Amino acid sequence: AGPCDIYSSGGTPCVAAHSTTRALYSSYSGSLYQVKRGSDNATTNIAPLSAGGVANAATQDSFCAGTTCLITIIYDQSGRGNHLTQAPPGGFNGPDSGGYDNLASAIGAPVTLNGQKAYGVFISPGTGYRNNAASGTAKGDAAEGVYAVLDGSHYNGACCFDYGNAETSSRDTGNGHMEAIYYGNCNVWGTGSGSGPWFMADLENGLFSGANPKNNAADPSISYRFVTTALKGEPNQWALRGGNAASGSLSTYYSGVRPSASGYNPMSKEGAIILGIGGDNSNSAQGTFYEGVMTSGYPSDATENSVQANIVAAKYATTSLTSGPALSVGSHISLRATTSCCTTRYIAHTGSTVNTQVVSSSSATALKQQASWVVHAGLGNSACFSFESVDTPGSYIRHYNFGLQVNASDGSKQFNEDATFCPQAGLNGQGNSIRSWSYPTRYFRHYDNDLYIASNGGVDTFDATGLYNDDVSFVISSGFA
Ligand code: AHR
Ligand code: AHR
Repeated sequence: AGPCDIYSSGGTPCVAAHSTTRALYSSYSGSLYQVKRGSDNATTNIAPLSAGGVANAATQDSFCAGTTCLITIIYDQSGRGNHLTQAPPGGFNGPDSGGYDNLASAIGAPVTLNGQKAYGVFISPGTGYRNNAASGTAKGDAAEGVYAVLDGSHYNGACCFDYGNAETSSRDTGNGHMEAIYYGNCNVWGTGSGSGPWFMADLENGLFSGANPKNNAADPSISYRFVTTALKGEPNQWALRGGNAASGSLSTYYSGVRPSASGYNPMSKEGAIILGIGGDNSNSAQGTFYEGVMTSGYPSDATENSVQANIVAAKYATTSLTSGPALSVGSHISLRATTSCCTTRYIAHTGSTVNTQVVSSSSATALKQQASWVVHAGLGNSACFSFESVDTPGSYIRHYNFGLQVNASDGSKQFNEDATFCPQAGLNGQGNSIRSWSYPTRYFRHYDNDLYIASNGGVDTFDATGLYNDDVSFVISSGFA
């Protein structure tokens, strides 16, 4: 059985079921998600390997070979057509054209399920999915359940990495107009014990960890690599339950009456569905979503416990974030451009600006050092890499406003993530393309001889599609210095 078969047996059927990693019904063999590739904007659908099975990631890998891919649609497996697509502007605009949010990279969150490769949905700040015309989801004070499997190591303190019920207008229409899972360490509204990240409920104009609108010590900081979050609500009753998605059972962090603040009892749910954003399209948060559903009715704890057992049996595990020519931690490297304009140019820096410069074995020592980098395990994720300047020890390549800079490390989570990059086989067939860990739609790109993290098409000049594959492919050699 799949999670939605279990919810059906419990009398609280799924009315929306989303996953890029697996079928959530044992009989489901339809499309899980759609990807669009950068080379020709063609799309294809990814289905499970067999009914009820894991996504056929090999289909995606061959369709996206030598180019970039975005997740354009996350299909609803419930049969109700409650698909998730690029979120439109609302109370806040997204960064893409027309005020839409960005789409997620199709390769930002690779995992295995029972040893088979699949991809989750890696939400960078600015990314979001939504359905403002969902059918069958809870409205008003009606009962619902929601669960999601997330990456407990990918979060931030901004508003709001959510999955669940929200406003149909993409605007803040008042307290109680949402009922969504939130995950992160935002402390503007509620908090739990420790410093987070926490699983809380986004009920609009507040992230709630229990009856007290501020702190509830029973809501723990949780950071399992794979985390199960289960939220449910019915008239003057709601619960937060969570656990390790890779082992063990769910714990109840809260179960009781609605928060002691006006507007949450009764609730005024509107029934839209959001992923990665707040109800008003607040889009500064980050997180990773693997699977989740919304139900009709208030699931029993026993039903949720069976769903957790099903998730554990799916055996989520990590897999490599890199490919292509290997890098060795501790080595010194130089990175040569491969675009025909520029094959004698290497990634270098002038002060804090990262650029390309013509360098050779007869260049001055200072220039050789400017074009040489020490490879470190990724400061923000040790499965990827960070690059320290040879001539400025303690300073690393990081992205800032999507430009690359050499800055002294301040040790912050933000710096560490901005300085973490995941090399993969070069998109033009040469060397490596160096993907930003935190914005996996973006790669190191030289453009007018300066370095950016650029997407393959986008709102910035340096996102131009012309020469993209060449501009993002670099041959890595041992360092000049
Ligand atoms: O409730 C927290 C956030 O507040 C909601 O997600 C958003 O709509 C509002 O800004
Ligand atoms: O480069 C994009 C973002 O710009 C970085 O993550 C952040 O440090 C800056 O705001």
